[in-house]
Amino acid sequence: MSIQTISWSSGHVKLIDQTLLPHRLQYIHCRDVKTLWRAIRRLSVRGAPALGVAAAFGVLLGIKTFPGRDRKRFIKHVEKTSDYIATSRPTAVNLFNALARMKQVIQRHPEASVAQLKSLLKKEALAIYEEDRRVCRRMGDFGARLIKNGASILTVCNAGALATVDYGTALGVMYTAKKQGKKFQVYACETRPLLQGARLTSWELLRAKIDTTLICDNMAATLMKQGRIDAVFTGADRIAANGDTANKIGTYMLAVLARHHKIPFYIVAPRSTFDLAIENGRQIPIEERSKEEVLGFGGQLTAPRQVKVYNPAFDVTDNALITAIVTEKGIIRPPFRENIKKTFRPKTKQAGSRDRSRM
Ligand code: MRU
Repeated sequence: MSIQTISWSSGHVKLIDQTLLPHRLQYIHCRDVKTLWRAIRRLSVRGAPALGVAAAFGVLLGIKTFPGRDRKRFIKHVEKTSDYIATSRPTAVNLFNALARMKQVIQRHPEASVAQLKSLLKKEALAIYEEDRRVCRRMGDFGARLIKNGASILTVCNAGALATVDYGTALGVMYTAKKQGKKFQVYACETRPLLQGARLTSWELLRAKIDTTLICDNMAATLMKQGRIDAVFTGADRIAANGDTANKIGTYMLAVLARHHKIPFYIVAPRSTFDLAIENGRQIPIEERSKEEVLGFGGQLTAPRQVKVYNPAFDVTDNALITAIVTEKGIIRPPFRENIKKTFRPKTKQAGSRDRSRM
């Protein structure tokens, strides 16, 4: 399969321009923070885990040309750069968690010189990148257990290799199930307005030779009623301490439908998508995007230009509608508040061990 969505390559960020898929597989080379910021904003790079990696690499772009050895000025510069990256998109918490990790590197090394900090920051950004590759495969191992042989799965948006470094969350589970020799088929919701399901998920799944059927978003209820769906698997952009989950607009609708039809509804997301500082989903900031995205597609108007438009990019699924959350630490089931806490409880430090706490 092998899709390399984002990488750090000879001092710049190389990423697939996802706005051109499925027609063209083309890369953008971001050599400065502004270019990266724009790539995030226009969804050339998208998907919560990929945004975390992009943010960390963005800090590297920002510090690359920092002149001099003044530590105080350097720290200010890193803060300014990460504040700027933080304005690109508000919902996926991976982006903010990655920026926080980068800043913690500086706090953990109060004596380090500018040159040393530059190298430590690079190490951290590459660790975030490598971790994504590792945890996606771990989630794949856990989540594949939930896919029964012969199953028919529904998914929305794109939670695949294109939303991560190279493997995926919800689609990663499917890749692992396929490797295990399981037979299953996938229905992909097209995911208006930007069609991540139609353009990206169907492209990815076809490349992986997974039996895939594309449907319009408004067909999901009928498929469930017809008994064609055995499970729903989606990714997430931010999960609150109680398990309420923000994901692409339309996810909540699928969760309500799944409950009505007694179909299991699974979220697949790594620790970096959890925001344990917020109690519930009401506190999750939901991005609103431009009216142009709804008025038409690809520059073609499909509605009267004057019509009012509301375009929230994400919705929140209440924890009560979620059957389980697959993470790299295992499968979390209700009651979510307690079990999320237990799953991510920091390991108690052993005497003399180094502090490796993060985020
Ligand atoms: O607006 P997008 O395309 O960035 O939205 C992405 C999603 O909602 C994904 O489902 C989510 O980030 C999970 S990605 C593994």
